[in-house]
Amino acid sequence: MATIKLLIADGKEDWLNNLKRMISSVENVFLVGEARNGHEVIEKVKELQPHIVLLDIDLEGIDGLKVTEILAKENQNVQTIIMSMKSSPEYFRQAMKSGAKDYLIEPFSNKDLDDAIHNVFNKWLKDKAELFADDSNAKVVSFFATKGGVGRTTLSVNLAAALAAKGKRTLLIDASLQFGDVALTLDLHPQSTISDIVEKDEFTIDGIERRITKHACGLEVLAAPKEPALAEAVTSKHLQQIIDVIKPLYQFIIIDMPATITEKELAVLDKTSLLFLVATLEITSLKNTKIFLKTLQDLKYDLDKVKIILNKDTPDVGIDRPQLESGLGVPVYASIPMDSNLVQISLNKGESFVLKSPASLISRNIIDVAEKLIGPSKKPVNTSKSAILRIKDLLFGS
Ligand SMILES: Nc1ncnc2c1ncn2[C@@H]1O[C@H](COP(=O)(O)OP(=O)(O)OP(=O)(O)O)[C@@H](O)[C@H]1O
Ligand SMILES: [Mg+2]
Repeated sequence: MATIKLLIADGKEDWLNNLKRMISSVENVFLVGEARNGHEVIEKVKELQPHIVLLDIDLEGIDGLKVTEILAKENQNVQTIIMSMKSSPEYFRQAMKSGAKDYLIEPFSNKDLDDAIHNVFNKWLKDKAELFADDSNAKVVSFFATKGGVGRTTLSVNLAAALAAKGKRTLLIDASLQFGDVALTLDLHPQSTISDIVEKDEFTIDGIERRITKHACGLEVLAAPKEPALAEAVTSKHLQQIIDVIKPLYQFIIIDMPATITEKELAVLDKTSLLFLVATLEITSLKNTKIFLKTLQDLKYDLDKVKIILNKDTPDVGIDRPQLESGLGVPVYASIPMDSNLVQISLNKGESFVLKSPASLISRNIIDVAEKLIGPSKKPVNTSKSAILRIKDLLFGS
């Protein structure tokens, strides 16, 4: 069952607190945020991408009905439930007309709230299954390589920052458990890490969220243990549990993996939607990447999910991109140029070059990968068109 992301909006502080208490006992619901006026709701829907907004009819600024109308007009993928003390059928009718999916008369019970949220969500899930195929679960993109130092951390950090900068809710997990460098690369000082989740046995949304560190660009990071000795306690099952629990809350989960292949890495690969295999223009990288591709094939891993990223691409080193492609027998998905100066300066300053120097060639190539992952923006499905016309649109454009 998917976790339902909920945003609540009410200007009455006491009622908002009461509501939060009630929601904490509703199963499968995760409160992503709260708002106190209409403008704030519209902003937070865009930022937090909740599934459902529970909002007061009398919100200040823009009232609840108008907010519902605006969200519907903007095609935001969200369902609204209106809360009101007014029980007259006329208000109910107006709420439905503005696009609300349910109307709760205050005060309501825990059960009323639970039923309203789940009924609205389940109906939506049934009607719009295609939305949930992509949006309610993060795309899990893992960076792996057969040898160290090829640039997994550099690429995962900068790709994740590029996605976050494009407004995508992105979590970067440092699964390089013994010597993870993600936090340092972004100049973050995490209070908690993945070890704390394991130590306290808190594999819940709250338990995991509490251990996540936020970067100023919006990117969220689950850092590796602070000492290599602590890595041992994190098992393959733990890694899978964390991904499963947190997946409904993000659009992208980027995972920086170590250059080893043990049960833990295989567990991550199992949960991966797209595996970025990082290679460089070195004969050793070519040989080991080729062996690893064969291993994946022997493991019956879906090779369509595996994409080669050529990093530190540079001319005149004896091997070029076409030779790498023919050696591996697969095309390169993206090539990231060598830029030692920018990469090292950024690393030593704890900055992401994609954010600081977005116009540089290396940044542009990483931003291109982010755009490929995001894909074209979805057009709303026009249900009034016949199936034939919609197929025609798909084939020839509308
Ligand atoms: N495109 C690039 N151009 C120039 N230098 C790069 C590039 N990508 C990475 N580097 C440099 O290569 C080195 C290794 O990068 P990084 O730490 O990202 O690799 P890694 O695969 O994560 O290594 P590790 O095995 O230590 O985890 C760093 O010094 C980094 O600055
Ligand atoms: Mg690394």
